[in-house]
Amino acid sequence: MKSTHLSKMTLLLILLTMFSCFNNEKKEYASAEEIPVNREMNAELTSPPYVPTPIGKRKAKKLIVKMEIKEQEGEITDGVRYVYWTFGGSVPGSFIRTRVGDEVEFHLQNHPDNKLPHNIDLHAVNGPGGGAESSFVAPGHEKIFSFKVLNPGLYVYHCATAPVGMHIANGMYGLILVEPDGGLPPVDKEYYVMQGDFYTKGANGERGLQPFDMQKAVDEKADYVVFNGNVNALTGDNALTAKVGETVRLFVGNGGPGLVSSFHVIGEIFDKVHVEGGDVINENVQTTLIPAGGAAIVEFKVDVPGTFILVDHSIFRAFNKGALGMLKVEGEKDKKIYSGELMDNIYLPEGPGIQSMPTTNEIKESEIPAKSLAEQLEFGKQIYGQTCIACHQAEGQGIPNAFPPLAKSDYLNADVNRAIDIVLHGKTGEITVNGAKYNSVMTKQMISQEEIANVLTYVYNSWGNNKTVVTPEMVKKVKDKK
Ligand code: CU
Repeated sequence: MKSTHLSKMTLLLILLTMFSCFNNEKKEYASAEEIPVNREMNAELTSPPYVPTPIGKRKAKKLIVKMEIKEQEGEITDGVRYVYWTFGGSVPGSFIRTRVGDEVEFHLQNHPDNKLPHNIDLHAVNGPGGGAESSFVAPGHEKIFSFKVLNPGLYVYHCATAPVGMHIANGMYGLILVEPDGGLPPVDKEYYVMQGDFYTKGANGERGLQPFDMQKAVDEKADYVVFNGNVNALTGDNALTAKVGETVRLFVGNGGPGLVSSFHVIGEIFDKVHVEGGDVINENVQTTLIPAGGAAIVEFKVDVPGTFILVDHSIFRAFNKGALGMLKVEGEKDKKIYSGELMDNIYLPEGPGIQSMPTTNEIKESEIPAKSLAEQLEFGKQIYGQTCIACHQAEGQGIPNAFPPLAKSDYLNADVNRAIDIVLHGKTGEITVNGAKYNSVMTKQMISQEEIANVLTYVYNSWGNNKTVVTPEMVKKVKDKK
């Protein structure tokens, strides 16, 4: 009896000792630099939007990172070419995933076909230039340096070869994650998103191979602000995906070189943000600021299906310069969390007895009809300036991906009655104009038949269109058909 009791005590003591040893594993080392490296392994590198396998419980290792610099031509948006300088063949560069205590042996390889020397400054490095001084490498060479990973967090790396701004502007940036001992808590989906601003000789949308514009970069007047290197990187078929109920973690960086990002996901709230990629965790965040040369980790659970839009909430960048991505979520609807449209009621601020919604019947015909083509053009131009210009722009050029052009418009010139009908009744749904697809909404215009005739005559007689003259009678005919 006594001996049994004793052996139980012994066992308990052994267990306690074991437990305390295990428990003290983290505390054994005064700092990350003392964590021993138990083996050597090659780092898994990934192109955006993907990230390497989580670290989990793996011990600190000697991690070999082999990264090849490639200068290569790509497409920044439809028809616009750009020579990117890349770490690993992508913008942003390959994602590097490490943990505290890792000893990274970094091999920076400059492809022999490249034209310029480059280097790398990793913000996760404690050392001069973040590695830049040791890694300056000419085409056809490889430089090797090593560093111990001391601080957990999400860090930017970038080229720091003069002119530094130009190397970064051409796409030379990426992210290196340093996970804490034991790893980050597991989530369902992880993605890599990095913003960057681009400066081209031609204006936004100007076709052909566009050289870098140093002056625009100095002035911080970006032609493109994009996620993952180009306008279409995270839209359509390239959208990020998740399922209802999953938790999504985005590793978000901002390479700059010039602009700070107000990162936001339309229709979502960040449950957690690792502010600036560090240890501070903020909760329930709508928009998080990501400095140039900085990062953040954002996490959120997706509750309902739909397309959620990633933007820089400096909103012209999103809708006019490309800083727009998509997260498509599939799964069951939950009407308690989001109902969708329930009803479309007439809204009358002053009560139904006082006024009713205007209809085309109530639009007053103008009392001074145009007496000549010249007058039609003059009046039409005025209407255009009041009604159409915001969307279709001063020269009828439209806005790419949003509002179709009216200048040299095949769609317009093909069918005048269709054009009249659209101005009378509005238009929704996809149309193709000059080979490009548009899917926006034009509301019906509250202007008279006379005004419709004038404005369409103005449009048809401007910007290379077919010079159709539209009369009020033609407008009336289309209207009466409905
Ligand atoms: Cu460079």
